Amino acid sequence: MATNVNAEALKESPIPDAIEKHAASKQTVDPYNVQGEVGEDGVVKAIDYNKLIEEFGTKKIDQALLDRLERVTGKKPHRFLRRGIVFSHRDLELILDRYEKGEPFYLYTGRGPSSDSVHVGHTIPFEFTKWLQDTFDVPLVIMMTDDEKYLFSDKRTIEEVEGYCSNNAKDIIAVGFDPNKTFIFSDFQYMGGAFYKNVVRLSKHITLNQARAIFGFNDSTNIGRIHFGSIQGASSWASSFPHIFGEDESKTVAIPCLIPCAIDQDPYFRMTRDVSARLKYKNSNISYAKPALIHSRFLDALQGPGTKMSASVDESAIFMRDTPNQIKNKINKYAFSGGKVTVEEHREKGGDTNVDVAYQYLRFFLEDDEELEKIRVAYESGEMLTGDLKAICIKELQTYVAAFQERRAKVDDEAVKLFMTTRPLKWNGNPRAPVVVPQVQNADGEAAAEGGDGKLTKNQLKKLEKQKQIEAKKAQKAKEKEEKDKAAAAQP
Ligand code: TRP
Repeated sequence: MATNVNAEALKESPIPDAIEKHAASKQTVDPYNVQGEVGEDGVVKAIDYNKLIEEFGTKKIDQALLDRLERVTGKKPHRFLRRGIVFSHRDLELILDRYEKGEPFYLYTGRGPSSDSVHVGHTIPFEFTKWLQDTFDVPLVIMMTDDEKYLFSDKRTIEEVEGYCSNNAKDIIAVGFDPNKTFIFSDFQYMGGAFYKNVVRLSKHITLNQARAIFGFNDSTNIGRIHFGSIQGASSWASSFPHIFGEDESKTVAIPCLIPCAIDQDPYFRMTRDVSARLKYKNSNISYAKPALIHSRFLDALQGPGTKMSASVDESAIFMRDTPNQIKNKINKYAFSGGKVTVEEHREKGGDTNVDVAYQYLRFFLEDDEELEKIRVAYESGEMLTGDLKAICIKELQTYVAAFQERRAKVDDEAVKLFMTTRPLKWNGNPRAPVVVPQVQNADGEAAAEGGDGKLTKNQLKKLEKQKQIEAKKAQKAKEKEEKDKAAAAQP
């Protein structure tokens, strides 16, 4: 939070005075502001992601971890992972341990419905989340923070964010999530019951001092904002979703989630992890599972590194509703180039792919590693000119956006209703793992809780008992029949 914060961010969240003074030109990355460092010359620098790993205390995703991920899942890591776009994590190893053993976990992500203008940057974490869902075959919950977008804006009304919520839900569904495994919910609608109990459980364990230290609130911050973290955090606990994981909290509190998110959301979950570690289920020694995280970096604005695409600045972003022509014009007109000023100089010295927006977008969207490498070499050597590079980028983005639009056109209100209905989900997990506790149906036909510790749940015990009774009855009948037959045979 500093003088370098742009006007849009200011509108979103007034800057706390105390912090503004001693962080004048440093880079800012928190849930409310994202901005690279501003140098003495007033030029915004690229966001230093390694510095964030250090400051936040997360771990870098290294090659060894990627190798293990590939070994455990049998799938080549997503291009975001291969290229350091998804670059940091907390406890991903523990999630892989669980996956290997067939122990339950789930995915949790979210979106703040702040406008109807979804851009390609918004789809990054969701694209990746879909890959995680396809790869791990586990349940996914998606939180729509309509409450947050109301609380953190001076002008938005509740009705406005409600409208964005259902439209954004359609955009998210269009990414391609499996309705059998995905629950999308709005905070306004889902608040209550088990979820609200967890919200309060979390808020009781966070002091005002801690919230200020984590989020930089001040005395003029409205108290809804101060409390909001406990809402975003509470979905990290499986017991907030009894319709998915069952009613038995002694089991569900031990089921962790993996949260794919952009790095700016980390403070919420750092806080939640801290509280989880301190909480025990009903004074037993069963701990609340800490959420695991996997962080992505941002997609730069068309104007270049150091900023991210903004839904309210048309020239900064490629929107998912843009036509092929709009995409072409925006890239040609606005995409910051790492090329040299004259063709001669470019041929001689080559372009800078680190700052070239068209090249950077290709890193996000071009699947083929070899092709990408060829482009890099050609551009850096000066053999490829900016215009050619932009043409490749335009084509990739047009394809990406068109495919999205095709799927989006098929998402209707019925689909939104289905995804947002509180209902049991079906998933299989790791097909190669020894199943610790099978997913079972309880008396209501709902999927009952899976126990992470290998013990049977109440419902499973009940079912076993019933099965035993049926077996006993069958045996009794068979015995009676046998005796009858014997008696009949004995008759002359
Ligand atoms: N606060 C996020 C936003 O403004 C939305 C969100 C809620 C979220 N829960 C999440 C994002 C979990 C990532 C992971 O967009």
